[in-house]
Amino acid sequence: MGRADRRRGGLLIIGAVALGLVAATNPTASAAPGRASLFSPGAPGAGDPYFPDMGNGGYDVSHYDIRLAFNPKTKAINATTTILARATQNLSRFNLDFLGPLKISKLSVNGRNASFTRSGAQELVITPPHGLRRGSRFLVSVTYAGVPQKIDDPALGISGWAATKDGAVALNQPIGAATYYPVNDTTNDKATYSQTITVPTGLTVLANGEPGRTTKHNGQTTFRWQMNQPMASELSMLAIGKYNVTRSVTADGLPNITAIGQSIDTLAGQGKVFNQTTAQVVQWESSLYGRYPFGSTGGIIGDVGVHYALETQGRPVYDQRSSKVSGDLLAHELGHQWFGDSLTPVRWSDIWLNEGFATYSEWLYQEKFNKIPVAKSFADTYAGEEDWTGKVADPGRDQIFDDLVYNRGAMTLHALRLKIGDRAFFRILKHWPTTYRHSNVSTQTFIRFVERSTHRDLTTFFNTWLYQPGKPKI
Ligand code: TRP
Ligand code: ZN
Repeated sequence: MGRADRRRGGLLIIGAVALGLVAATNPTASAAPGRASLFSPGAPGAGDPYFPDMGNGGYDVSHYDIRLAFNPKTKAINATTTILARATQNLSRFNLDFLGPLKISKLSVNGRNASFTRSGAQELVITPPHGLRRGSRFLVSVTYAGVPQKIDDPALGISGWAATKDGAVALNQPIGAATYYPVNDTTNDKATYSQTITVPTGLTVLANGEPGRTTKHNGQTTFRWQMNQPMASELSMLAIGKYNVTRSVTADGLPNITAIGQSIDTLAGQGKVFNQTTAQVVQWESSLYGRYPFGSTGGIIGDVGVHYALETQGRPVYDQRSSKVSGDLLAHELGHQWFGDSLTPVRWSDIWLNEGFATYSEWLYQEKFNKIPVAKSFADTYAGEEDWTGKVADPGRDQIFDDLVYNRGAMTLHALRLKIGDRAFFRILKHWPTTYRHSNVSTQTFIRFVERSTHRDLTTFFNTWLYQPGKPKI
């Protein structure tokens, strides 16, 4: 999504569909011979060296409208996803990412049936009846059904749509989104989302953003959720099941919606504590990192079976069966709302910009709420760390979730703090996410930002911590 369209994406799709104007208002290529060669296929990948097939080129999505019905008995979904995008080149055809066994029954571009093929593991190749002119907006609508299959990657764990005992949960970092909707699955094409999810009455649906109307029809309940700020697909989320939901507002007036899976009996009665701790952490982190970047907050504790928590945008998901709500884990996932969600790395190699700051958020939380000084967290991590071999700012595809990225990422930040002093450091903690709010960032951008704001040459420092294997001296 381009900067200028961000706020308008959600409105445009509604307006375009309601008025039926899409085909008429979008300039399409003339059928005149000789012109066709000016139109070429969009790239099948977005250029991330770790995930070359992820994402696509030639267009920019501004909104996803996902409408999906889930049948818990068969575990099947029936869905139509409509995507509003803008061509960034003259397109003869383009790809979306779409994975697994779901069968497409209908696919249209600007309301006209388009031909499509599926190639490789995740490419959905779409050829519209007319080329799409650079700069023109177009709507792609895909209707499909089947039983979505999660991804279980040996290095990256479980992601995508995962059936649970009482429903399903979709967690999409880094490669899961395409298991249940066609998507430009790259961190570099953020878009707004609306999710309209129908389930048998009695089940609850949670998703990113703010809730809309809930309606009932024929034993089915439809839930609506809207994410009105730009979101990377890896941060999109859905949770369907039996949940106890708690609603409140934070001290800043932010809607705060939390939910705990009813099957987690060790957490029975903890709904209020979870909700209030979330509000408290968001409030405190806003004082450190600047205004909260999204329209609501919250969290979901579920028995998902993925063995991690995830910073899904606006509302993290915590897979846990433990008997308490852990404040430092909340500080980590909520810290990601600034570092990872609002500011999202251009490339996966820069994921330390997420995990280093989120881990540092835990250290700051421990100091603030549990009287464990950051200096101790740093010293313990420095003394206890066994993995000093990799490069933090380019750990390798299979290492993006390694301790190296989390621990050395946070240690890098603390070492920076020791070097530039508390004043400069805490100014950066606030101004970095404020300056690059809702955009994509890289390690180079961060280094330049720090150097500009401190008027120092920190080349050697960052080289040592981020790019050189081995234990830096302190
Ligand atoms: N990025 C998540 C976090 O730090 C954790 C995570 C997501 C993860 N996927 C994973 C950890 C796979 C290990 C394996 O909050
Ligand atoms: Zn994290």
